[in-house]
Amino acid sequence: MSGQLVINLIYILSAGLFIYGLKMLTSPATARQGNRLSAIGMLIAIVVTLFDQNIVDFTWIIVGLVVGSAIGSIAARRVEMTSMPELVALFNGFGGLASVTVACAALFGSEVSTGLAATIILSILIGSVTFTGSLVAYGKLSETIPSKAVLFAGQRVVNGAILLSIIVAAVIFSLNPDTTSGSNAFWVVIGLSFLLGIMVVIPIGGADMPVVISLLNSYSGLAACAAGFVLNNNLLIVAGSLVGASGMILTNIMCKAMNRSLGNVLFSGFGAVTQQADAIEGEVKPVVAADAYLILEAASSVAIVPGYGMAVAQAQHAVQELAEQLEENGCEVRFAVHPVAGRMPGHMNVLLAEANVPYDQLVEMDDINPQMGGIDVAIVIGANDVVNPAALDQESSPIYGMPIIHVHEAGTVIVLKRSMATGFAGLDNALFYGDNTRMLFGDAKESVMGMVAEFKG
Ligand code: TAP
Repeated sequence: MSGQLVINLIYILSAGLFIYGLKMLTSPATARQGNRLSAIGMLIAIVVTLFDQNIVDFTWIIVGLVVGSAIGSIAARRVEMTSMPELVALFNGFGGLASVTVACAALFGSEVSTGLAATIILSILIGSVTFTGSLVAYGKLSETIPSKAVLFAGQRVVNGAILLSIIVAAVIFSLNPDTTSGSNAFWVVIGLSFLLGIMVVIPIGGADMPVVISLLNSYSGLAACAAGFVLNNNLLIVAGSLVGASGMILTNIMCKAMNRSLGNVLFSGFGAVTQQADAIEGEVKPVVAADAYLILEAASSVAIVPGYGMAVAQAQHAVQELAEQLEENGCEVRFAVHPVAGRMPGHMNVLLAEANVPYDQLVEMDDINPQMGGIDVAIVIGANDVVNPAALDQESSPIYGMPIIHVHEAGTVIVLKRSMATGFAGLDNALFYGDNTRMLFGDAKESVMGMVAEFKG
């Protein structure tokens, strides 16, 4: 068997591990194992590639591996759960930058055909947009730059002109890669692509950054795929395509769960203008932990609906303790998780898994909604938009049509939040004024611990 054949067979094994690992990520019960399998696949791929490329000197590769691994593992260990989207944005961005540098390196040392030049320029275009776009997304999420959508007259014309200039320069470079005009065009593509990444992300509000990050994650995969063509590396092409496709699917799922099109997310400037909501009737009925306990103590079924506030308060362990107390009291407890609760895909699932909430207690929105009318108490823990009935009945609302968890249909709703402040979409919520709603104001963790203390007597 030739060496190349062995390498390709090992690449197929790695690709199989990636695909199988991705499949395992679809269930919380197998997700960790799936992550591990994919990581093993990547390790095998890296080792084989290093031996395949007849590398003369490993020194810089080892330095890069050590420094990169150290930075990556420290960053991943230190990051707060609420800052995870920022970290993912940074990692995506550097993935894009890596594809740019690989494509640039391919220019040196070998004759560049028009076909190769075209793949190089594609890798550079997508990688550069991903890099600067991700940096802006990081800045908006971490609020190191203003998170509001930046809109100005003629914005789309300016962006269109930048894209057109990139295409013209890319064609000039691809047709004459070895000439001075080709070389100038190459630098124009890099500069304008970096600019385009900034320009396409600034008009999007901080609120929509998780979707943008998922989309940029997909782009970083496409950039790696293009780099795979540049290097003629089959596995990079496969891995890049997997990232590109899965990122696109995730983006689509997030848009669907918000009932918005991708076009609306990217171009509407959502959140730039405060929308006037319809006047809400009813009054707010605050309760203290002791009153909430009395309601819960009498309940035989409870649905717990976590949202972004649970992540902020880091209340997941206290919430699990409350669930245990309720069960000990003979109550059936389920956790109803909305697909876009929190600020990143699977945000609530990760937190609940961290607190060892059993998987079989997690119920998806579509499964819990038909049963909500028969549930005694719904406890809303730092969720707001995902339980806002305006999505069902207020056609003028920006979230009209977004699927929500129908907590308002439960016998009693106890809402845990600190104030009457709006959530991510900046909208008032009629749920808080409902006849069957009681507001337990305060930090979610402290409020839950207050109820647990009441149960413990
Ligand atoms: P939000 O609508 O953002 O509401 C969170 C609520 O938590 C706030 O109203 C806030 O009220 C409360 N809160 C914050 N800190 C708290 C604390 N320490 N203790 C108690 N409460 C606290 O959250 P949601 O219902 O989870 O909805 C998610 C939103 O994010 C949706 O609009 C969704 O479209 C959007 N989004 C999500 C994703 C993904 S993938 N998850 C992606 C893009 C967009 P107070 O300030 O009064 O406490």
